[in-house]
Amino acid sequence: MTTKPTTTIRIDPDVKKRAGAVFDDIGISMSAAITTFLKAVIREGTMPFEIKSDRPKPSTNPVNAKLNHAFIVKKDEFYTQYEDVEKEMLNHQKKLKGKTILCNCDDPFESAFFRFFVIHFNRIGLAGLMSTCYAGSQMAGREYPLEGEAGAYKAIVTEVPDDGVMRPDGSLDLESLFAMSGNSLMYLVGDGDFRSDECTALLTEADIVATNPPFSLFREFIELLVNHKKEFIILGNMNATTTKEIFPLFRDNKVFYGESIRSGDRKFFVPDSYPLNATGCGLDENGRRFIRVTGVRWFTNLKTSKRRKPLELTCRYSPDEYPRYENYDAIEVGRTQNIPNDYDGVMGVPITFLDKYSPDQFEIIMLANGNARTNVPPKTLSKVKYRPHPEDRGGVGIINGQRSYARILIRRKF
Ligand SMILES: C[S@@+](CC[C@H](N)C(=O)[O-])C[C@H]1O[C@@H](n2cnc3c(N)ncnc32)[C@H](O)[C@@H]1O
Repeated sequence: MTTKPTTTIRIDPDVKKRAGAVFDDIGISMSAAITTFLKAVIREGTMPFEIKSDRPKPSTNPVNAKLNHAFIVKKDEFYTQYEDVEKEMLNHQKKLKGKTILCNCDDPFESAFFRFFVIHFNRIGLAGLMSTCYAGSQMAGREYPLEGEAGAYKAIVTEVPDDGVMRPDGSLDLESLFAMSGNSLMYLVGDGDFRSDECTALLTEADIVATNPPFSLFREFIELLVNHKKEFIILGNMNATTTKEIFPLFRDNKVFYGESIRSGDRKFFVPDSYPLNATGCGLDENGRRFIRVTGVRWFTNLKTSKRRKPLELTCRYSPDEYPRYENYDAIEVGRTQNIPNDYDGVMGVPITFLDKYSPDQFEIIMLANGNARTNVPPKTLSKVKYRPHPEDRGGVGIINGQRSYARILIRRKF
């Protein structure tokens, strides 16, 4: 009997384990399998199979939701809770009827937006639902991992069975959904960036965009929607409100806060790699990692009911209680609820005023912050009689020589 020499090869333990399970099924040993492979190499004079990248070709291939998905570590990965989406969207049901919705930062298998619109597709009477995922997402493919390397894909839904696709355990039977002839799940050519040509082509087809875009790209995202003249209902942080791109939209009544979320913090799911010791981070009862974020608001250009409801004003103006700014022809109103009901001039109110803003009641003139001198048109600055003050750092209101906070300058409508 000849003794074969022992050869040591390095194999990734996980690869070894998974391949071993296949060989067990077939009934051959690992050693026999490797010998068979090496003999095939000798016989063919090359690798005995074609070697190609796992990444699927940009095509109309249906996605095989079976194998693994690699993730790129990335921030901007706060995933909205279903309850938050539902609460807001149910307020807009009538406006959504007959419309095609685009969720363009949303893995259909993870997104509460996609889930909401599938569940309510027939009840609302949607014409269609499109959703794209981003290849860089840490969550994409987590529930229904995709075959191959991390790739972006798009889901198109034009029909949902009358009895829905909800399984008894509450999950959506998306395999059945995508098996319907009017629906599809396809790879995208690129990485699913909402600015890419193929994603903006979907945007062109859509009527309304509903999503929670990456916080770091929020301004760019909203600008894209405005430039495409799309309706939208998107989640963002109110910090974005005072930026030079977004504040003019509020001023010109092109964007409002939505119907729900006016205070407090919201819970968002985060990937498991998110540091648990980060402020506001915790684990829910199912072991899912979440973070609490303050200052979250819906931003929308859909008509909302709240913005038409005037604020009840109970305070009366007195020069003692409402000091004048030294650099603006306006009075300081430290709290929105203290806006006097008998003052006709310009008033500086906190940014949180936007939570209560009704365009029928008030006109927004400008934002008096450190960028006012550069961002506000000179005509507007002269309208409020702005005169630079050595302490105003670009346009913050000054009272008794002291800088106030950033304020929105408003005037009552009559
Ligand atoms: C704040 S998360 C919200 C995810 C989902 N919309 C939700 O609310 O649960 C933003 C998502 O946008 C994805 N994303 C990041 N950069 C993107 C880009 N340039 N284009 C499209 N999506 C992007 C992230 O991977 C992440 O999945």
